[in-house]
Amino acid sequence: MTARIVGTGSSVPVHKVTNEDLSRVVETNDEWISSRTGIKERRIAGEESTVSMSVSAAKKALEDAGTDPQDLDLIIVATCSPDYFFPNTACCVQEAVGAVNAVAFDLSAACSGFLFGLNTIQAYMKAGIYKKALLIGAETMSKLIDWEDRGTCVLFGDGAGAAVIQAEETGMIDMVQYSDGQQGPVLTCKARETSNFLFPNEQKADHIYMEGQPVFKFAVKKVPECIKALLDKTGTSKEEIKYYVLHQANSRIIDSVAKRMKEPEEKFPMNLHFYGNTSAASIPILLDEMNRKGMLEKGDKIILSGFGAGLTWGASLLEW
Ligand code: ACO
Repeated sequence: MTARIVGTGSSVPVHKVTNEDLSRVVETNDEWISSRTGIKERRIAGEESTVSMSVSAAKKALEDAGTDPQDLDLIIVATCSPDYFFPNTACCVQEAVGAVNAVAFDLSAACSGFLFGLNTIQAYMKAGIYKKALLIGAETMSKLIDWEDRGTCVLFGDGAGAAVIQAEETGMIDMVQYSDGQQGPVLTCKARETSNFLFPNEQKADHIYMEGQPVFKFAVKKVPECIKALLDKTGTSKEEIKYYVLHQANSRIIDSVAKRMKEPEEKFPMNLHFYGNTSAASIPILLDEMNRKGMLEKGDKIILSGFGAGLTWGASLLEW
């Protein structure tokens, strides 16, 4: 058996922040942000949280799939911006949707989180361990951002996307995934410092730190490489692929991947103009939009590819 996506959902905060709005917060402008990243606006959480957006996306995905939450046997939430160290976000979702029979845990792989979650579910389903899963990518990146750092605060946004996945005869075909901890320092966000009665430490909130150019170079090199590795591994030709659904970090990264692969830009759908980089949420939000617009038909072959902090990256080939 293999993992098949049978329903999708997404949820973003109501509050919209345009590039123009940001130019009143830091020294930046729409021209710089648009030309360097493609981003025009992003959603920023106020009332919303990682749990509330996860629950809202999950309910929509369950409805789209026609799945009774009690039939779920697994919930994974991919996030690097949870509301709590514990309980994990997935247990909060389990409680909110009434998925009383599911085991629930979070997975941390930054912007590759949804993809790594999908591959984890695939492994469980292939092994016959679980049959019906809910996978969510959810982030409140706005709470990790240094709002005085114009180099990073313009890039990210908040949101959540979800997919109901079930074990079927057809669905995921294969995947590749990689990590390189040696390059980890180019993109970081520190958690709490060690602090106790023996070694007290003043806690100060830390924020996202990013060296933009090494991250850019990593993405434009590794994404085409891993997609090629996946095509070769599965004996699939580029012509068979209808869409490449890439992590929505930056339109220049996506354009460059298309160019390096000699594939038309139309095969690389994007919505980052409206949401910025929502980390683990970006692939499932885009997938949900494509699903609801009727862009995906049964039997279509698509490749999902995630890349981000860790460094982590990978790709999955699916039949819709
Ligand atoms: N507005 C105006 N000017 C700015 C801004 C801004 N928001 N940010 C930086 N600048 C300035 C810099 O200070 C610098 O000025 P200087 O030349 O006077 O020093 C100049 O613009 C150029 O800065 P660079 O950092 O060299 O700009 P670059 O062309 O590399 O673009 C960017 C920066 C957009 C971050 C690019 O490196 C990039 O896209 N990197 C990949 C980032 C990314 O996508 N990360 C996430 C992927 S992984 C994940 O999702 C977790």
